[in-house]
Amino acid sequence: MDRILIQGGERLIGEVEVSGSKNASLPIFAACILTEGENLFHNIPKLKDIETISKVLKTLGVKVDPVEDHTYRIDATEVPYCEAPYELVKTMRASILVLGPLVARKGEAIVSLPGGCAIGARPINLHLMGLEAMGARIELKKGYVEAKADRLRGADIALDTPTVTGTENLMMAATLAKGRTILRNAAMEPEVVELAQVLNKMGAKIEGAGTSTIVIEGVEGLGGVNHTVIPDRIEAGTLMVAAGLTRGNIKLLNCPLHHMEALIYKLREAGVEIESDGDGVRVVGNTRIRSTDVKTQPYPGFPTDMQAQFMVLMSLARGLSVITETIFENRFIHVSELLRMGANIRIKGNTAIIQGVDHLSGAPVMATDLRASASLVLAGLVAEGVTEVSRVYHLDRGYERLDEKLARLGANIKRI
Ligand code: EPU
Repeated sequence: MDRILIQGGERLIGEVEVSGSKNASLPIFAACILTEGENLFHNIPKLKDIETISKVLKTLGVKVDPVEDHTYRIDATEVPYCEAPYELVKTMRASILVLGPLVARKGEAIVSLPGGCAIGARPINLHLMGLEAMGARIELKKGYVEAKADRLRGADIALDTPTVTGTENLMMAATLAKGRTILRNAAMEPEVVELAQVLNKMGAKIEGAGTSTIVIEGVEGLGGVNHTVIPDRIEAGTLMVAAGLTRGNIKLLNCPLHHMEALIYKLREAGVEIESDGDGVRVVGNTRIRSTDVKTQPYPGFPTDMQAQFMVLMSLARGLSVITETIFENRFIHVSELLRMGANIRIKGNTAIIQGVDHLSGAPVMATDLRASASLVLAGLVAEGVTEVSRVYHLDRGYERLDEKLARLGANIKRI
């Protein structure tokens, strides 16, 4: 199993390109199930999760071919099967994104229930409630969701909470439903907007994505598209924190600044300088980090997917900061590892109270989820001595060769 070794203390300097967005690519791949034709997608990141969604689509009989480095051809002219098995879904919860498209296209979907994961229980009740409102008959059998409908029909659906993949699943299902669907309290994440744009290019009629009310007029069929996926705002944010932590000076190319406002506001409060610079974004960490409080929220609030990385920054800030996690009930698993590196953090319920320290010390650490792993790599960049991060497969699910990118910026980091 791969591990990452980091000798802390190097300033990051240079240019680096942000990869395509994982959480935009996954629903877009699932959306192909709705199309009778060939789709070509560019700027797809090279990630374990992309391999997994490709396998799920292939299990359904969809043709998925990587044609160039970051380009995929997906042909769903035929979708002969409708079952997404436990073996795949258990390795990636986002596999549930095939549920809506399958029932809309084929009238039947059998998808393993994803179960909980390290960061929380992560139910899918809202995905199921929405499909039922559209006329699907849903049964849970032997750990699988079975959904059936001759043809889905438009419905007025109010989500209790603005779930991202739930909004995406229902928006995709509604594109082929008979009549109009209204999704209220919908998620407003850039990845939802991106999916709506791709679906509209495919021939769907969606309005309001990016606001809390999305209106979808069902159509008879969708066709293939050629599309370049947006850059990954969480990878960009992780690299910004890396620059701030190491008092670095880096330029991010292909950086989706306009999707990162809440994070950038907080990074600036912490003393990290972020400015547009020609074809990219310059990030400079000049001063001792200042403490600032953060509360995770659905978009456009501060993203939960940046909470662990920001906590490393606050661990080295001057003063006390409070980080409140409101999205997932167990997303502080990185804290015990940061404590082993010398951070001073106390947890009270969904709140972490962080007293900044002068330095962290390298240690062997491991994490049990993607963003937590990224936070440990960041901590290793500034810790005194050597940090060894194990279970790197979590990192590889969602970051395209993060270790190589950091090495190119001057970090003393290697994979063994
Ligand atoms: N929720 C429900 N019922 C549902 C669905 C969600 O109660 O049916 C609750 C969840 O328990 C949670 C909240 O709603 O408390 C928000 O969860 P959401 O459904 O929005 O999360 P998700 O769609 O499963 C996506 C991202 C996550 C990201 C969250 C929040 C993808 C593939 N995943 O997950 O990304 O953390 O939104 O922004 O888009 C990651 O990339 O590391 C990652 C975990």
